[in-house]
Order: sequence, then structure tokens, then C-alpha cells
Amino acid sequence: MDPLLSLGAGLLLLALWARLKGLDYLLVHHRWVFVCLFLLPLSVLFDIYYQLRAWAVWKLHSAPRQHSQRVRHIQAQVQEWKNEGGKTYMCTGRPGWLTVSLRVGKYKKTHKNIVINLMDILEVDIENQSVRVEPLVTMGQLTAHLNPMGWTLPVVPELDDLTVGGLIMGTGIESSSHIYGLFQHTCLAYELVLADGSLVRCTPTENSDLFYAVPWSCGTLGFLVAAEIKIIPAKKYVKLHYKPVRGLEKICEKFTEESKKKENNFVEGLVYSLEEAVIMTGVLTDEAEDNQINRIGNYYKPWFFKHVEKYLRANQTGIEYIPSRHYYHRHTRSIFWELQDIIPFGNNPVFRYLFGWMVPPKISLLKLTQGEAIRKLYEQHHVVQDMLVPMKSLEKSINTFNSDLNVYPLWLCPFILPNNPGMVHPKGNELELYVDIGAYGEPKTKQFEARASMRQMEKFVRSMHGFQMLYADCYMNREEFWDMFDGSLYHKLREQMNCKDAFPEVYDKICKAARH
Ligand SMILES: Cc1cc2nc3c(=O)[nH]c(=O)nc-3n(C[C@H](O)[C@H](O)[C@H](O)COP(=O)(O)OP(=O)(O)OC[C@H]3O[C@@H](n4cnc5c(N)ncnc54)[C@H](O)[C@@H]3O)c2cc1C
Ligand SMILES: *[C@@H]1O[C@H](CO)[C@@H](O)[C@H](O)[C@H]1NC(C)=O
Ligand SMILES: *[C@@H]1O[C@H](CO)[C@@H](O)[C@H](O)[C@H]1NC(C)=O
Repeated sequence: MDPLLSLGAGLLLLALWARLKGLDYLLVHHRWVFVCLFLLPLSVLFDIYYQLRAWAVWKLHSAPRQHSQRVRHIQAQVQEWKNEGGKTYMCTGRPGWLTVSLRVGKYKKTHKNIVINLMDILEVDIENQSVRVEPLVTMGQLTAHLNPMGWTLPVVPELDDLTVGGLIMGTGIESSSHIYGLFQHTCLAYELVLADGSLVRCTPTENSDLFYAVPWSCGTLGFLVAAEIKIIPAKKYVKLHYKPVRGLEKICEKFTEESKKKENNFVEGLVYSLEEAVIMTGVLTDEAEDNQINRIGNYYKPWFFKHVEKYLRANQTGIEYIPSRHYYHRHTRSIFWELQDIIPFGNNPVFRYLFGWMVPPKISLLKLTQGEAIRKLYEQHHVVQDMLVPMKSLEKSINTFNSDLNVYPLWLCPFILPNNPGMVHPKGNELELYVDIGAYGEPKTKQFEARASMRQMEKFVRSMHGFQMLYADCYMNREEFWDMFDGSLYHKLREQMNCKDAFPEVYDKICKAARH
């Protein structure tokens, strides 16, 4: 049996046992006990297993050989579904708790689960500057593989466990997106198994409708079995410049200005209150001044958002050279700032030096073991949302986030949105500068009520011609959803490719009612 599954099953039993024993109180109010004793060591084991596996597969060159066989296995399962009369919809067989999104799709229980066992890097093509990968390859796996070869992805979404498939079928973003766009805009080709069992490849010139319809479709047009992604030369360090800015107007002005500068390889903002932010700009470089190198990814280092806050409190600008891979995954160890709610003393130096190397606990394991009480608590008193809005409405948006949620820090990440066809594009005919505003934490507004407050936010975002990331809780009704997203190409393709009997509509997969 897959060691992962047996570990998962063991944990599930443990969590069940704990709840039966009336340990719910402990699990809710002192969750860190459980997290530190069980989840951290298990997370380490998981990582070791996956790293060894990826290394062995690459050394043995077995991935490319096995790939076509594995794809045939997926096609055979689709064929089987057809032979059975196609009675239910299909979905990927990856268990809901394994995904990074905090919610689990209810449909996994009722739809036919197609097992997609594709987790390897297939080929790094230096000549054409691309990498071909299977969909379950993670960001951590890719940077660990590419960076030592001197290459990297143009857009490396933060968390180690984010998968290529999820980032293409949903979306992904990083502090280099003001140059390269969203994760899908750095992709050159997708290979999919469609509802009829056929295998197709699509690019901007070959089956281009499909190519542009895939992002944000969340697996409702077909199963992704491989993707080609552009790669760019990596450098050793990111020279990072920290600048505290005070006053909302100034913050927005400065952030917009920096996001438009092409010489900035990275731009990011952390907003600590309505009037205070630190804006960071980074440039890739191979040279570094020794006394300014900061290996922020080392386990004993302070959490990144706490480190950045120091510049704000001191009211001082600063420059540091950060090893590239440490930069790419700078928010991984603290899961942005989510970990402070789970392990309140996690940033204490004593904890960091002793146990920091086991952090972070895997989000998948946290989800698997959280239990109903914590889930409900989180649903009502915790938000994890990313809203993508045009840069020109940044000030208005931060004000709205402040009055409706009052969650800090806010994550600001600029990105350029090309006017490609598909579900997400700017209103006008030109490409447009957008910004992702991420709110992760406990809302401090008195009147916060999950459903009502989020509906209000969603309405605001629609009125700005913005977009909600689909991994998050979505309270819109169908009509509102298709008001936010452009469904014209998507619906046309669903019709053409007989998707309507094979996959649910994307709204029915991601709306609040479909997930718990
Ligand atoms: C705490 C937290 C932090 C986050 N941080 C970031 C961040 O730093 N940067 C960022 O860009 N995003 C971030 N996200 C959001 C993230 O982009 C989405 O969750 C994204 O969808 C990737 O998640 P995943 O790899 O777990 O994909 P999944 O949730 O597994 O997949 C997303 C969708 O794609 C579909 N899908 C996946 N693989 C396939 C396939 N092979 N064939 C067909 N359909 C498929 C799934 O069915 C699902 O509907 C964060 C989310 C959370 C909860
Ligand atoms: C690079 O791309 C060209 C054109 O698509 C192709 O002919 C060539 O084989 C590719 N190179 C490698 C090393 O795959
Ligand atoms: C921060 O520094 C700037 C310039 O160095 C100064 O103008 C400003 O008054 C300072 N703000 C605070 C709150 O100390």
C-alpha cells in the first residue's frame, strides 16, 4: 500500500480516537499540542519520502518511460466510465484533504474518481528553455530540481506544496507576476485527456481555444496529464530592498510605481495596518556583499513577515541579499501568517532553534485532522481569500478590506493581465496591471459574519471588474459568478467537447454549497 495512504489512515484513526475521548476541547483550544507532537514529525516524514522518491525517479530516468503508460491508464479509466454508461460526473481521484485549498469538495464522494498518478518532472529542455512536467509536480520539487541547474520558473508560487495542475486549473501568482503574468501565462502547452478519452495537446497556436479555456476551469474540461512551462536563467541571490511607507495614498502610489518598473524582478507589499506598509522590490544577482546576506529560509530564522515588520517599526529602509530559493519560498515556513494562529509561540527563538526544522506542518495533514469543531470555527471566524483587482482601484480596495474584514497583514502582489480569451481577462482590449490582495486570518470587524461579509466583498470585487481566486470560499450565486468570470469560451467548449455529461460546471465545483 502507498505509505502515504497508510500514514493518512493512521492519522485519521488517531484524530477520531482523540475526539471520541472527548478531547475536542484540547484539539480546539490547544491545537498546538497535537500539531507539535504528531503533525510536525509526520510532515517531516512525508517530505523525506517525496524528496527521495523524486530524486530516485529522476536518477533512474523512469518518469518519461512510465508517463505514456500512466496516461493510457487514465484513458482506460475514462473509457470504463463511458462503458458504464457515464452515469455520474468524473473528477480527479486526489483526496480532497491533500489539496492546499482549505476546503474539501463534497463531489469527491459522488463522482467517479479518476486516479491520476502523475508526479514527476519529465524533461528539462535547456535549448528551448522549457520544462515538461506532470500535474502533481510541486513548486518545492521544481525549484529544488531547476535551481541547482541554473534555471528557474518565471513565476514560482510561494508554498512548496502547490502543484502545477492546481496552479494551471486554478491559478497561481508570485511577486514576479508584474512581468510574467499569472502562472498559466508562463505555460507553453497543456496535454489533456478529454471526456471522450482522447489525448490532446494544446498551445497558443494548436487547439488554441482549449489552451485559453483551461486556466480557472478547475478540471471541468478534461484531465491535465502534462504541461510545458517556460524556464528562465536563475541567479544566486535576490537583492531585496525593504521600504516602509506610511499613509494609504502614499502606499498605493509607491506600490503602483514600483510595479510598473521593469528593472524590478520582484515586487511585493505587506500592509500591516490601514496606514502602514513595507514595500519590497527585488533584483536577481549573482554577486552579493557578504555581510548583507540573509538566509531567511534557514529553520532558525524569524518568520519572514515578522522580519519585514522590523523595518516598519524601525522606520528604516534596508537592503539584503537573499539566496534565490530562500526568497521564492519565503512565506512557506509560516504559511504566510497562518501558522501564528496554530502555533502561537512558533516564532519564539527557543522554539525555532529546537523545532523549527520540522515547520511548517503540512496543510494537508492539518486539514485531515482538524475535525468538525475547528472546521466550523475557521469557517465563521477566519478568512483565507485572494481578490484580484485592477491596480487603479487599489486604494478603494484596501479601504473596503479594512471596513469589511480588518485583517492584517494584507498581502499585495502585482500582476500583469493579458487580454487573452478565457475566463479571466481585463475589461478593456489592452493588457492591464492588476494586484492580488490576500487576506489571511481572523477578521477583527465587529459586524463580521462570514456569509454576509464575504458576499459584500464579492460584490465590491465584481464592481471593480476583479476576480476571486477559486480555491477560497465563494458565496456568489451562479449568476453573480458568471458576471465576474467570462463564460463565453468556456461554455462553447463544454458544448463542443461533450463536457456537460462528463464534468460538473466549474461553479458547481467551487461554490460554498459544494465544499465543506
Ligand atoms: C494557505 C494557502 C496559501 C496559498 N498560497 C498561495 C501562493 O502563495 N501563491 C498562489 O499562487 N496561490 C496560493 N494559494 C492558492 C492556490 O493557488 C490554489 O489553491 C491553487 O489552486 C493550487 O492548489 P493545489 O495545488 O492544492 O491544487 P488543487 O486544489 O488540487 O487543484 C485546484 C483545481 O484544479 C483541479 N485540478 C488539479 N489537478 C488537475 C488535473 N491534473 N486535471 C484536472 N484538474 C485538475 C482540481 O480539481 C481543482 O479544482 C494558497 C492557498 C491557500 C489555502
Ligand atoms: C526545440 O524546439 C524545436 C522546435 O519546436 C524542436 O525541433 C527541437 O527538437 C527542440 N529541441 C529539443 C532539445 O527538444
Ligand atoms: C519615518 O521616517 C521618515 C523619513 O525618514 C520621516 O519623514 C517620518 O516622519 C518617520 N515616521 C515615523 C512615524 O517615525
